[in-house]
Amino acid sequence: MSEESDSVKPWGGRFSEATDAFVERFTASVQFDQRLYRHDIQGSIAHASMLAKTGVLSTEEKRAIIGGLTDILRDIEADNFTWSVGLEDVHMNIEAELTKRIGITGKKLHTGRSRNDQVATDIRLYLREEIGLIAGELTRLQKGLVAQADRYAGTIMPGFTHLQTAQPVTFGHHLLAWHEMLERDYGRLMDCRERMNQCPLGAAALAGTTYPIEREFCAGQLGFAHATRNSLDSVSDRDFAIEFCAFAATLLTHLSRASEELILWSSAQFNFIDLPDRFCTGSSIMPQKKNPDVPELVRGKTGRVNGHLVGLLTLMKSQPLAYNKDNQEDKEPLFDAVDTVKDCLRAFADMVPAIKANATEMYSAAKRGFSTATDLADYLVRKNVAFRDSHEIVGKAVAHGIATHKDLAEMTLEELQTFSPQISADVFDILTLEGSVNARNHVGGTAPEQVKLAAKQAKDRLEQRA
Ligand code: ARG
Repeated sequence: MSEESDSVKPWGGRFSEATDAFVERFTASVQFDQRLYRHDIQGSIAHASMLAKTGVLSTEEKRAIIGGLTDILRDIEADNFTWSVGLEDVHMNIEAELTKRIGITGKKLHTGRSRNDQVATDIRLYLREEIGLIAGELTRLQKGLVAQADRYAGTIMPGFTHLQTAQPVTFGHHLLAWHEMLERDYGRLMDCRERMNQCPLGAAALAGTTYPIEREFCAGQLGFAHATRNSLDSVSDRDFAIEFCAFAATLLTHLSRASEELILWSSAQFNFIDLPDRFCTGSSIMPQKKNPDVPELVRGKTGRVNGHLVGLLTLMKSQPLAYNKDNQEDKEPLFDAVDTVKDCLRAFADMVPAIKANATEMYSAAKRGFSTATDLADYLVRKNVAFRDSHEIVGKAVAHGIATHKDLAEMTLEELQTFSPQISADVFDILTLEGSVNARNHVGGTAPEQVKLAAKQAKDRLEQRA
């Protein structure tokens, strides 16, 4: 048996029976879109101001509407507002309340407007504001990384490929690699902001409106760069939400990689870093445990944000123009992506400056695994051995090292010379870890001098951000 809704719908004129109570709940979005109340009111004030400017509303009517909306805003913020599922969404809840408070003038607010351009405007206002906050947290994290990179510019650790010891690098260099990933994410975020910063108001339901309107006035009031150019597109696309989620998924994918490394490095087996206690938790059964929960959770949350991107792409796929109710489903994934990104950035920005490197462990790990083998090969090339031959020679020396449990630098000159007569006493300078990193002294290289310089340049760039 279906029950009927007893609420009066603002669109009820052509209907001859009440909405089914389940359908009412099923189609409502107020449970989650009430989050947009501030932006909805902001948009309505701009719209009413525009209607007064063009003479559609009188100055009195405009004043009454803005006064009513401002009171409603205050009441919502004071938690003094009852949201009704019967009124479907944030837009109709606020509009109905306005009419309740100021009477018939409230009913004029929706002149020349539709919920379609209204909601397209609200989400953009919301997202633009959140992008500002996210940009701030991202910058804070990057500043922390760059400061740590400067601090650890000369701290040597093994660099890996395939998670096998490859060549020595500095910890500062590694941290600056993370910074570069985030730098591109920041660029993606700014691109997204720029492309979405257009005002859909005036598109109305889909075709525009017959009233005299000034779309650029609304755009200006709301801080948009300009009005959107096509009414059908304005109300139907959610590509800006997709673009934001693409940014978010890429950022979290980057953070998941950093997380994975922090998790590995803080294990007893690596012991490269110490995560501060306040970012870890214990085990209820194993008293010795200190678990890196924060990076683990960030790694885990990447899954849901990647999911939101795919969800939004799938939501949009094959939708005919213009607005479809499907688009109501854009909000929960977008909101969750925003919340998750903010939390993960906050966790990382707080944690990164407190990470302590265990330089001694890093150094001795870099000494294992023949990390200077390439340096020896390059040395032989400088002594006129062809690279492929020198690769072979060093490979044999490494095999000897494995058999005798000796690193290349621990072999005697005579021992090394059995592999190539080209090797002389100066070889020991290049076989040290310091010699290895210092030799890579070029833009983008791991030499401590370069890392210091790169950290300084990164810091300067960050300081120039608005
Ligand atoms: N709650 C709706 C949404 O989020 C608002 C727009 C409704 N428009 C409509 N024609 N039913 O998409």
